[in-house]
Amino acid sequence: MENHSQVCGVSNNMKYLPVVLALLVPLAPAAILEDIPGSDEMEIPAFVQTLNQLHRGPPLPPSTKRANVETRWFNQSLDNFDDTNKSVWSQRVMINEENFVDGSPIFLLLGGEWTIDPNSITSGLWVDIAKEHNGSLVYTEHRFFGGSIPILPLSTENLKYHGVEQALADVVNVIKVLKEEDKYKNSKVVVSGCSYSASMAVWLKLLYPDVIVGGWASSAVLEAKVDFSDFMEVVGRAYRQLGGDYCYNLINNATSYYEHLFQTGQGAKAKKLLNLCDSFDENNERDQWQIFSLIANIFAGIAQYQKPENYDLARSCSVLRNLDIDDASALSKFVQYSLRQQGCHNARYQETVDYYKWVKNNYNGNLHLSWFYQTCRQFGWFQSSANKNHPFGSTFPATLYTDMCRDVFGSQYTSAKIEEYIQATNKKYGGRNPAVENVYMTHGGLDGWSAVGSDSATIIPQGSHCFDSGSINPTDSPALRAAKERVIELVREWLA
Ligand SMILES: *[C@@H]1O[C@H](CO)[C@@H](O)[C@H](O)[C@H]1NC(C)=O
Ligand SMILES: *[C@@H]1O[C@H](CO)[C@@H](O)[C@H](O)[C@H]1NC(C)=O
Ligand SMILES: *[C@@H]1O[C@H](CO)[C@@H](O)[C@H](O)[C@H]1NC(C)=O
Ligand SMILES: *[C@@H]1O[C@H](CO)[C@@H](O)[C@H](O)[C@H]1NC(C)=O
Repeated sequence: MENHSQVCGVSNNMKYLPVVLALLVPLAPAAILEDIPGSDEMEIPAFVQTLNQLHRGPPLPPSTKRANVETRWFNQSLDNFDDTNKSVWSQRVMINEENFVDGSPIFLLLGGEWTIDPNSITSGLWVDIAKEHNGSLVYTEHRFFGGSIPILPLSTENLKYHGVEQALADVVNVIKVLKEEDKYKNSKVVVSGCSYSASMAVWLKLLYPDVIVGGWASSAVLEAKVDFSDFMEVVGRAYRQLGGDYCYNLINNATSYYEHLFQTGQGAKAKKLLNLCDSFDENNERDQWQIFSLIANIFAGIAQYQKPENYDLARSCSVLRNLDIDDASALSKFVQYSLRQQGCHNARYQETVDYYKWVKNNYNGNLHLSWFYQTCRQFGWFQSSANKNHPFGSTFPATLYTDMCRDVFGSQYTSAKIEEYIQATNKKYGGRNPAVENVYMTHGGLDGWSAVGSDSATIIPQGSHCFDSGSINPTDSPALRAAKERVIELVREWLA
């Protein structure tokens, strides 16, 4: 992997630029705009687009056949912890009973901060394991995401019904209702999740140990934290290891170059080079924070589900290098193409705030407001530049995000209050070391999120986020193969 040009056959010669652009198509983050109904009503700021990328659901396995998946709607209480309020809403649940034999187990897959999709319960490792046990696959959508919206508008007042405790109680209720059916009355339940929904799998077993017999948590993020400064270090390491030193240095140098421009009164030049819209105020600190955070998020978004065997990062780095011989210009062009946006980038802090405020009153399927609320209210995980061991500069403090919490959700969201909320989450769930049994946890060694994962998790070297979700495959590394076989074996034990 030393010669990155060979990996994808791109020459350093600029006359091959069209080849480079063609390569960008599969590399660039999936376009966000086209997935969102009504997004033409207000342009999604570039920063929000990069956050959407970081919180997209796990990649769907290739669908080989028409999914035989039924969608059902479950009545849920608006407030699972207040019997005096009888308001109900409909939660979306998808069920695949193709291989189900009455009385066999329920294989629950938990939805996280995304819209659920039937393909997730028609192939992949969890589906393979379910088949072995004649199980039924049940996929629950998390409240306030996708089609499972308990109440509108998404005002701060109404968002008080949002939160992981409510979502876990919803899941328990789905299990209860299913088990009232004859065919499920003797079914044991095993659970799995990826990323935030893996955290939910851990916490479900912790809070309701008798409801499920075991769980598999792939990339569970467990320790809530306001300033998540270690995230970008792992992302940087992924670029260095899989992209090469030249790639890391290029990003590092280009970032320093732009930082230097802002620091020396040449912000207008940086603004022009980065193709930022007029509204961007080069002298506004928060605007500066946001553009550097945005650039880091683009790289993190690509690394998030990278597969070493596909040379994803090596190819991205090759594209980046070949876009321009000048580092700063190469970075600017890379940002441009990753955002797949015509014209200038709207990267003003206030416009992001205005966008979120608009979504509060005009829910249009855009998921990120809802997740942003959870980060302010329960988890933090604000990916700052405070740790210096990464190539993305030092210009985006966690304050960028905590300020946004306040500006979007109200003045009660002071830094002190957010810190208090986050500590309450760790107190309740036990942070990185929850007191839970029969849950198997795995992490990718090059996944930024692993930095808030369990100390006892199995680490899959070079792996990314939710790296083990696919079926066993001949291209799996020995460590990946071993982790998958361990899940299979443990599920057998739990169901025995
Ligand atoms: C859900 O609640 C509505 C009324 O609130 C009721 O008409 C409907 O039968 C319920 N559905 C189920 C499956 O219980
Ligand atoms: C239940 O809560 C909703 C939302 O806050 C509110 O609109 C409704 O009036 C409440 N119902 C009762 C019976 O308190
Ligand atoms: C699955 O169902 C088939 C057909 O009913 C049965 O022969 C087999 O023993 C079942 N396997 C398990 C693990 O229950
Ligand atoms: C760093 O980037 C600047 C701006 O693109 C460029 O002029 C300079 O040559 C680069 N330095 C190195 C060591 O590549």
